[in-house]
Amino acid sequence: MSLTSLHKKHSVDTQQVVPFTGEGAYHGSTAKRPNAASSSPPAPVVEEMRPSTLERYSLEAPRPIAEFEATFPNLYSVQDVLPVPTQEEVRDDGVTFCWCPLQEALSLAGPLTRRVLASMQGHLVGDKRHVYVDSKIQYFEPGDVPVDSQHWHVDGSIVARGPRVEALGHNLLHDMRARLSSDVTSPRYLAYQSSDHCATVFATAPLTLTLPELVPSFTGLDAAIRALSPPFALQPASTIVRTDGRSLHRAQAATGTGWRLWVRTVETDREVRLSSSIIECYGTVFRTGAAGGRSC
Ligand SMILES: [Fe+2]
Repeated sequence: MSLTSLHKKHSVDTQQVVPFTGEGAYHGSTAKRPNAASSSPPAPVVEEMRPSTLERYSLEAPRPIAEFEATFPNLYSVQDVLPVPTQEEVRDDGVTFCWCPLQEALSLAGPLTRRVLASMQGHLVGDKRHVYVDSKIQYFEPGDVPVDSQHWHVDGSIVARGPRVEALGHNLLHDMRARLSSDVTSPRYLAYQSSDHCATVFATAPLTLTLPELVPSFTGLDAAIRALSPPFALQPASTIVRTDGRSLHRAQAATGTGWRLWVRTVETDREVRLSSSIIECYGTVFRTGAAGGRSC
């Protein structure tokens, strides 16, 4: 069974729906990982993902986490506008992806996703070692959220775990200063949404604020960004937009009913090889007040 692609017939009846908690991590659980997970050697850390701020904290005598002036350039640029697909085209496209190498995704994709990927190919910068594809086909009712969080965040943050993080009292820390202050180019993203009834919200102007240089989650960042009410755009239907690892954005609840295809490519130096299957839960929809449901 492939860990990076899933061919499935989508229908309203089989759309997975679970309660919205707002606690979902965009980028991995904050729980400590069992030691068994270290049975295979960890991938080498590339400069793009090196927690260089964390490395300046002593393992033996950690100091309090410092603050810094964080500037988010908030790259957001519409690169392409494709014909808006029909609801049936989205529902019946069949194949979704999770960290799937681009060439493999192109060979497996349904017709709609393949057209999107072909267009994205023309917009890749090509200065990173890997290009991966994530995609989801989801059916929303008004109020549904595509992920279990509506927090402002950035994608592909530098996530650190291990003894140095635990010495600071956490299981996981995002090294915000390394991402925002380093000279290394952050991951590059191209994102597509077939419709605008559950549009991602993107900040559209640079934003500077004081932040802890290491944060355990995006909760505090979200509160600080909301207090500043930055200018934003809602991604228009069937557009491909360019963002990067310094682009603030957030999910919001659907305003209408229907299917949506979401596709994203990332250009990154980090090699990702999945060790467990998360793709079956990838298209889950989160609904306030939903009963039970299988959690992913
Ligand atoms: Fe995101």
